[in-house]
Amino acid sequence: MIVAATADTIAQAAAHLRRGELVAFPTETVYGLGADAASPAAVQKIFAAKGRPRDHPVIVHLAGQEQLDAWGVVPPAAQQLAERFWPGPLTLVVPKRPAVPAEVTGGQPTVALRAPAHPVAQALLTAFGGGIAAPSANRFGRISPTTAQHVAEEFPELALILDGGPCAVGLESTIVDCTQTPVRILRPGGISAEALAELIGYPPELAQRAQLRVPGMLARHYAPRTPCYLVAQAQPQADEGVISRRARPIGVPGRWRTLPDEPAAYGRQLYAALRELDTLGLKAIWVEAVPEDDAWLAVRDRLRRAAQPEGVHR
Ligand code: TXA
Ligand code: MG
Repeated sequence: MIVAATADTIAQAAAHLRRGELVAFPTETVYGLGADAASPAAVQKIFAAKGRPRDHPVIVHLAGQEQLDAWGVVPPAAQQLAERFWPGPLTLVVPKRPAVPAEVTGGQPTVALRAPAHPVAQALLTAFGGGIAAPSANRFGRISPTTAQHVAEEFPELALILDGGPCAVGLESTIVDCTQTPVRILRPGGISAEALAELIGYPPELAQRAQLRVPGMLARHYAPRTPCYLVAQAQPQADEGVISRRARPIGVPGRWRTLPDEPAAYGRQLYAALRELDTLGLKAIWVEAVPEDDAWLAVRDRLRRAAQPEGVHR
């Protein structure tokens, strides 16, 4: 059930978490499906609800950098990144403390930690007091939710969905692997590679997909059900959809969605546009390619996962 986030409903949500139940809550990136990160049984409910393979680790959300040490062994680079970018859309992978449940880490010796900036997430973390394990609140392989309504579409039975409005970033957090030097980007996202480089003094490399065991890195992820193709210029039929940075050219048929020609604003609206087109029973969704520069890196990454290059048919 969707409830407006208030002091009362946030206290209720914290009580739910303490009882080992799941709660969906807003972050500045996407909505999360949260459970008490210290409880293996509670974390297992996340995997059951999502249909997510058990060896895929989840992010532990913390109120702030003061809690980093309790969950991870913190290398200097991670400390520096947390000081600068937390709370915010940055996830740090560090060696885990022995007490972190294997259910959270997928049995790996590392743990992913993030302090979200959304005031409702902050209030929930403070009320709860512990770490909240939370993947994006979507079924495995589906588009991440950026509104409470999206979460309800994914999990109609979920007892408590805190509504904190549409997410300001709209794409998932940047994940940085701090277990080795130089640090590497495992997933581009809300914090740009340039912003990271400015702080750490070198441009971090984007890790190769093949080396990783992260579900966000599977080729087909964040995907709509409608066949979705990346093209330079869309030429849709009447029963097809388009996501473009251009206005619809005169006389062109189909369902047309124009997104802003600016990466942050585009990223904020992308998932909602894909979801909306996906509900219309279209034959195909054509997504027009975005610029190749670094500012569009996180958007390009998500488009590559949602869409196939033109000519590739599922
Ligand atoms: O913005 C976000 O990060 C959102 C909000 C809810 O915080 N969460 C999110 O969670 O995107 P999820 O589970 O959909 O993606 C988390 C990613 C996955 O690719 C997962 O494999 C990776 O983080 N991850 C988690 N623990 C890891 C670890 N120990 N090592 C490497 N990657 C890890
Ligand atoms: Mg996800």
